Amino acid sequence: MFHLLLSLMTITLVGCNNENKILTFPDGFLIGAASSAYQVEGAWNVDDKGISNWDHFVHHNPERIVDGSNADVTTDSYHRHEEDVNILSDLGVDHYRFSMSWSRILPKGHSGYVSKSALRYYHSLLDELDAKGIIPFVTIYHWDHPQSLEEAGGWLNDNMPQWFEDYARVIFQNFAHRVKYFVTLNELNIYCTMAYRRAEHPPAIKLNGTGDYQCLHNQLKAHALAYHVYDEEFRKEFNGQLGITTLCFGHFSKDTIDLASEDLAYEFECGWPSHPIFSETGDYPEVMKKQVALRSKAQGYKTSRLPVFSEDWVARIKGTSDFFGLNYYSSRIVKRLSTSSRINWPNDEGLEYTMDPKWVSAQRTKNNIQSKVILQLILKVVPEGLGKVLRKIREKYNNPTVYITENGVSSSSGKNDDERINYLRSHLKVILSAVNDGCNIKGYTYWSLLDSYEWEAGFTAQFGLMHVDFNDANRTRTPKKSVHWLKNVISTRKLFL
Ligand SMILES: *[C@@H]1O[C@H](CO)[C@@H](O)[C@H](O)[C@H]1NC(C)=O
Ligand SMILES: *[C@@H]1O[C@H](CO)[C@@H](O)[C@H](O)[C@H]1NC(C)=O
Repeated sequence: MFHLLLSLMTITLVGCNNENKILTFPDGFLIGAASSAYQVEGAWNVDDKGISNWDHFVHHNPERIVDGSNADVTTDSYHRHEEDVNILSDLGVDHYRFSMSWSRILPKGHSGYVSKSALRYYHSLLDELDAKGIIPFVTIYHWDHPQSLEEAGGWLNDNMPQWFEDYARVIFQNFAHRVKYFVTLNELNIYCTMAYRRAEHPPAIKLNGTGDYQCLHNQLKAHALAYHVYDEEFRKEFNGQLGITTLCFGHFSKDTIDLASEDLAYEFECGWPSHPIFSETGDYPEVMKKQVALRSKAQGYKTSRLPVFSEDWVARIKGTSDFFGLNYYSSRIVKRLSTSSRINWPNDEGLEYTMDPKWVSAQRTKNNIQSKVILQLILKVVPEGLGKVLRKIREKYNNPTVYITENGVSSSSGKNDDERINYLRSHLKVILSAVNDGCNIKGYTYWSLLDSYEWEAGFTAQFGLMHVDFNDANRTRTPKKSVHWLKNVISTRKLFL
């Protein structure tokens, strides 16, 4: 009952706070937009660029992509970055989050050969951002790595953390003097889930309950190694900030308010990479270690399928982030299964995930689209889920600095995107309420600046503030209605509800 009341109270606070009012962004709050290398650069084979895992995957398995497309050209930002920066400048953003391509910078996969043309490209993008006073937020790794490393086992190879460390050092050596915000890895929990649990992203190998855990285990080590490299070799001179970005859904329990199930869902998704870095004790969440061990045993495994960190690694990973990069898009309903039905269930947490039929989507399905992938990609708009996640992060990790590194929605309304404006308004409102509640949120990054290549959805899910005409050789960019709306928010630093 106490919990029930507490929950209702939180909802009321979020729900009726400042209705019909104007909310103001705190001083120094950064507002920006995001992209990632594979999704926007194109130029997949120019100069000496190496083949990436994504180049290889989409060229060999076009049937795995909803519209059979690839990102060989996509928005062609490699050749049109000047135009992109002008768009950012016109929008008035404080920062631009983009990623660097591992296979462009290290075409051979190892740091013994660094591509001069790749360095020239990123310096030229940084020059343009500098000229417009836009702060670069550089993601070192946003899912694309050299195919040669994939062939060696990719994130299942225990050498991958070392290879990542070498790559990160090259990035710091070349860019730390002009980039003050780095994100090491993007959404490691989603990367490992899509690659090895759902097997929809390269290398698309179904190893649920083993490969997914090993993948994230190695990504956490990779992150920590890169963090220590920065700390030991670059921080003193350049004094930047290094963080990691995790995607977290909001979780609501079905029927009754079952906070334990909501928390279980949180720990198995968001806590999985976050607890080892941000909690006081480090290592994976207790509940996760316990539950995977129990189920592994029941399935006949000799040891837990969840890999174990040595004490040394727990200590090396703990505290390795100057900020929590949060990507939030949507929420799910969770329901706990009975103990007896858990053993053959696809997941270790023993939860069933569904959507609330009352939640609306910004993107409507076309009658001819039956694809399961598409249906899963169409996001339900649940701003209150973001408030939930922000408060969990505050409570669990002693109120760390949070940058929202992604938040956005795909829509089917073309350039007249009122749905996107509503999504932005409702999510920014929740963020400002959380700030008023004491959450230490320092920035917001809309995903994405341009309509772009959305992985397995190809060009069928468009998140851009800017419309891109993919049938036109010039990839003409045109502002949607939301550009004008967001521009006003940024220039006034106010949110009109
Ligand atoms: C992997 O998923 C399948 C169903 O998709 C399930 O039967 C199996 O138990 C899962 N494996 C593990 C180790 O949890
Ligand atoms: C593309 O850009 C070139 C150079 O600016 C221009 O001459 C041409 O008309 C453009 N084509 C289209 C279809 O907009």
